[in-house]
Amino acid sequence: MTTISIVNQKGGTGKTTTSINLGSALTKLGQKVLILDMDSQGNLGYSVGLDDGETISDVFEGNAQIQDIIQDREGMDIIPSDMRLVDIELSLIEMDDRHKVLDSYLSKISKKYDYVLIDCPPSLSILAVNALYASDKVIVPMLLEVLSLQGLDQIIQTIQKINSSYKKKLEVLGILPVMVDKRRKLSEEVTDYIKENYDLKIFESMIRNNVKASEAPSFGQSVIAYAPNSNSGKDYMSFAEEVIRLN
Ligand SMILES: Nc1ncnc2c1ncn2[C@@H]1O[C@H](COP(=O)(O)OP(=O)(O)O)[C@@H](O)[C@H]1O
Ligand SMILES: [Mg+2]
Repeated sequence: MTTISIVNQKGGTGKTTTSINLGSALTKLGQKVLILDMDSQGNLGYSVGLDDGETISDVFEGNAQIQDIIQDREGMDIIPSDMRLVDIELSLIEMDDRHKVLDSYLSKISKKYDYVLIDCPPSLSILAVNALYASDKVIVPMLLEVLSLQGLDQIIQTIQKINSSYKKKLEVLGILPVMVDKRRKLSEEVTDYIKENYDLKIFESMIRNNVKASEAPSFGQSVIAYAPNSNSGKDYMSFAEEVIRLN
């Protein structure tokens, strides 16, 4: 069992797309997968065609047990989120052991899975810290642009802080280049910069910029189901194979 947070404090870096499509690709490869949305925007559930049902907010509010709110899509288990996470975040800030709350819920069900993937909010707030604390590993989806580099130090510092404060061994599995345009030279400059300045793995797999990846959510499907032979469909399949190899 491995719990992986999909983290980047910037919005629009492919976190939700990666959570869904890595999840769907791992499922296709025979793995038992749960995807949990921890972003109050609730994009994940919508993107796989869920429009009602209880969410992780109900668990934080004490109105439901985590094992009772799991929904099923494309053979994966999904726990959606909703806007109430904004208020839940505020109430968490006042709690002792505020970083451990999600971990205590997930530990009731995580043994059932080969992979638990957590779609993180676009911040390094207490909700993200809850996701990280509950995880063994981190995947950072990133656009290969100079501005993307700015957030990298902050992610690393947050992980180091969690490891030292809470005696965790959270590990960055790697950086996943997303929406890659192979024609652009800039991509290579950014990967070179990361290799020279950080002790971080960049996955061999990259996810190409591909319209099918952005269309799939409006059909409530992963790109693995919607367009398996598209560039992004193939890329997420190779990425899932790489993730299994690394585990
Ligand atoms: N490989 C891709 N090719 C084209 N568009 C993509 C790709 N991956 C993601 N997108 C689009 O980019 C936008 C941001 O992706 P999303 O996964 O929602 O990011 P985040 O969850 O980090 O905010 C979405 O509109 C999504 O459909
Ligand atoms: Mg998202």
